[in-house]
Formats: sequence, C-alpha cells, structure tokens
Amino acid sequence: MEAKRAFLPDASAARGLTDGFAPLARLWAARGRLALIGPALNARFHLRGATRLGQRVTLRGRPKVVNQGTLIVGDRVRLDSTVATLELVALPGGRLELGDNVFINYGSSLVSSTCVKVGNDCLIGTHVMVMDCDFHRVEDKAWDTAGAPVVLEERVWLGNRSMVLKGVTVGHDAVVAAGSVVIRDVPPRTVVAGVPARVVRRF
Ligand SMILES: CC(C)(COP(=O)(O)OP(=O)(O)OC[C@H]1O[C@@H](n2cnc3c(N)ncnc32)[C@H](O)[C@@H]1OP(=O)(O)O)[C@@H](O)C(=O)NCCC(=O)NCCS
Repeated sequence: MEAKRAFLPDASAARGLTDGFAPLARLWAARGRLALIGPALNARFHLRGATRLGQRVTLRGRPKVVNQGTLIVGDRVRLDSTVATLELVALPGGRLELGDNVFINYGSSLVSSTCVKVGNDCLIGTHVMVMDCDFHRVEDKAWDTAGAPVVLEERVWLGNRSMVLKGVTVGHDAVVAAGSVVIRDVPPRTVVAGVPARVVRRF
C-alpha cells in the first residue's frame, strides 16, 4: 500500500510544478501585448520628431516623417509602412494632427502646409493622399504651398487610392470609395464615389 502511494502524484508537489510554470503561463497570456512592444518602440523611434506623440502608438515598417511645423499623433494610433512607404509631412507653418485610435495603411501620404486634421477613429486605406495645398500654381507652375485646411471628422473611412484635396471637410462617419477624388465637402454619414466624388448613398 505504501509503495503504491509513493507513485501517486502528491498535491503539493503538483502545485510546485504548476507554480514553476506560472511565469510562462503569464507570458503566454500576455503574448498579444508583447507582440506590440516592437511596433511601439518602432513608433517611438520613427516619430521621435513629432510635436506630440500619444500613448500606445504602434508602427510597422519605416515611414517618411517630416515635421517642420506641428505634428500631433494621438493615443493608440496605428500606422503601417510595410508594403509601401507611409509619408507624414508637416511643412513650415503646417499642422498635421492625427486623432486617437486612427489607423493609416501603407503607401498613404498626408501632407500639411496649413492644416490637416484627422478625427478620432478614422480609417485610412492604402495609397491614399490627403493634402491641403496644390504645391504649384496653375498659371505659371510656380511652387506655392498656400492652401486651405482639410478636416476628416470622426470615424471617416477613406478607401484605397482615394484622394482628399485642399479645403475639404469630410463629415463624421462618411465613407470615400476606393479611387475617388474628393474636391468638395462630404456630408456626414454618406458614401461618396468617383472622380470628382459624388454622394452615392446615405446611411
Ligand atoms: C465604399 C464602398 C465600401 C461602398 O460599398 P457599397 O456600399 O457596397 O456600395 P455599392 O457597391 O452599393 O455602390 C453604390 C454606388 O456607388 C458606385 N461605386 C461604388 N464604389 C465606387 C468606386 N470606388 N468608384 C466609383 N463608383 C463607385 C457604385 O457603382 C454604385 O453606383 P450605382 O448605384 O449607380 O450602381 C466600396 O465601393 C469601396 O470603395 N470598397 C473598397 C474599400 C477599400 O478601399 N477597402 C480597403 C481597405 S481600407
């Protein structure tokens, strides 16, 4: 009987065994957060020139970041610059502001010579261009960065390869279809599509 008991697992020994694995179990449980450490450090490095960098910003890949004006990056902003380079530029006197929880996909370019404001929770697809000036004058093609502010209100979604040009306000929750060129204000809760973009649906 005694000999048989010796082979039975002892509860305290078993606890010791699981206690031994506790750090590993905690590591396993935290693996999601750990996976963000690299992108978070990458964001701290590549966005070190930002005027303000929020909490828990993550970045994948190597973007082109130029801050000669004011560059504000909100909390929990997620940036991707993997497949194609993401460009964030605040020219002298320009203000580029990304709200909280904004996502911007690869190949997109946001350039501000005046003011580009991206509201909280906006989604920006791949190869999107947002710019608040034309860079050249129509008549003589001279360099000219005089522009007009662009505002994306909260929860705007810009589809892949769309463009938003100077002076445009895109209303909250609006959706810009892929490949559209937005040259006029977009009402909230509408889908706009085409070149130039027109309202195709309201919701
Ligand atoms: C914006 C979008 C989601 C709207 O989808 P939807 O609500 O199903 O819209 P519909 O397909 O019903 O289209 C509505 C109208 O807009 C037109 N339209 C839709 N997308 C268009 C586009 N990209 N360019 C031009 N017209 C477009 C349709 O032809 C249709 O016109 P009609 O009523 O005269 O036939 C979709 O068109 C789109 O752009 N998808 C791509 C999103 C994207 O880029 N995702 C990548 C990850 S961020």
